[in-house]
Amino acid sequence: MKQDRILILDLGGTENAAVARAVRALGVYSEIYPHDLTAAELAAMPNVKGIILNGGENRVVDGSAIEVSPHIYTCGLPLLAVDHPTARCEAISAWPQEEAAMEALLRGFVFDRCGAQANWNMENFIEDQVAALRAQIGGKKVLLALSGGVDSSVVAALLIRAIGAQLTCVHVNHGLLRKGEAEQVIEVFGKQLNANLVYVDAAERFLGKLAGVSDPEQKRKIIGGEFIRVFEEEARKLDGIDFLGQGTIYPDIVESGTKTAKIVKSHHNVGGLPEDMKFELVEPLKYLFKDEVRACGRALGLPAQMVERQPFPGPGLGVRCLGAITRDRLEAVRESDAILREEFKSAGLVGKVWQYFTIVPDLKSVGVRNNARCFEYPVIIRAVNTVDAMTATIEHLDWVLMDRITDRIIHEVPGVNRVLYDLTPKPTGTIEWE
Ligand code: XMP
Repeated sequence: MKQDRILILDLGGTENAAVARAVRALGVYSEIYPHDLTAAELAAMPNVKGIILNGGENRVVDGSAIEVSPHIYTCGLPLLAVDHPTARCEAISAWPQEEAAMEALLRGFVFDRCGAQANWNMENFIEDQVAALRAQIGGKKVLLALSGGVDSSVVAALLIRAIGAQLTCVHVNHGLLRKGEAEQVIEVFGKQLNANLVYVDAAERFLGKLAGVSDPEQKRKIIGGEFIRVFEEEARKLDGIDFLGQGTIYPDIVESGTKTAKIVKSHHNVGGLPEDMKFELVEPLKYLFKDEVRACGRALGLPAQMVERQPFPGPGLGVRCLGAITRDRLEAVRESDAILREEFKSAGLVGKVWQYFTIVPDLKSVGVRNNARCFEYPVIIRAVNTVDAMTATIEHLDWVLMDRITDRIIHEVPGVNRVLYDLTPKPTGTIEWE
């Protein structure tokens, strides 16, 4: 193991993730564990240099305060207790509010008391993970649903580095992907990284199931359910798979609620595979925050376009082609989205605007084209900024850019004669329209 680590034990602190990030910002790897970490679990972890007992407002569970197991106080490692007055180790009543004071406090603990080395970086992380993956997987085989999104792409690249041909990636094209996405997955993983890639073109199958279905929830259920079925069919064709790779990342785990926290939201990633298909999970990104996942992808040599990409919903363009999906409108969403992305890229907005895409509603309006009446669809532009996707504000797009995007969409996208800009913040408008 290359990296030292500082453990954060969750005693109901609400800032566990912020503390972990602050320690990592000092260059020292840190991980969050439940308060009842056992002596055996602790003994099995290499390079632990110190432990932070992070108490807080959720420390009282069912009327009584939770406490760490007694072995923690006698394990010999430097301890720092927060919101946790105790004679058994150094304690403070709360984290400092000021960033500089917080940094100074952590610096003192991590470097002076624990003697940790600032050796947390992506190269070391990858080296440690590759060793851990080889130890976990041995000579066995792993299956991965590779959507082409950031998380599954980075998991794939990491597994290819660790176990190469023992990994099989399945890319299900549900026909609702953005322009060029399936091609990029095939190019990067199938050709450049030489992965075992099973490419399933299930576009017709999905569009068939979705034909005439206009209710948004029903559409989502069909897409999600069908995705599992296609993936399962492919999995059954493969022999001797023991492991399932997953792109679980740290916020998924932290937000799923620990033993002390009120559950923020339960999180499902792939899930839903039938009971008789039993796989052990491989989740090599489960200790990384999103920006760290991107850094890991870059360090593994994935193209910037792939690791920097904006969030994209699982049901894909299906929730942006409003109402019952038709092929003409689906193509209009795909083409207009490609134009929007191209123009945002030229304008230097990639990475500056959180999410931007187009929507095509199921209505037409009268217009004029080549001196003749036309009756065509509008394209709606949505561009929003947010921190956590729970609330969002709209991006104030430049009018010159808007004019250029509009001009391109009305001339290059068949069947579209108008462009609209959605001015609605969240709330009341969700980011997606369905
Ligand atoms: P809403 O529309 O709820 O979206 O404001 C918030 C964020 O979540 C994304 N989103 C999804 N992501 N599967 C996903 O992985 C989904 O089914 C899904 N639906 C919405 C949306 O794009 C936005 O970033």
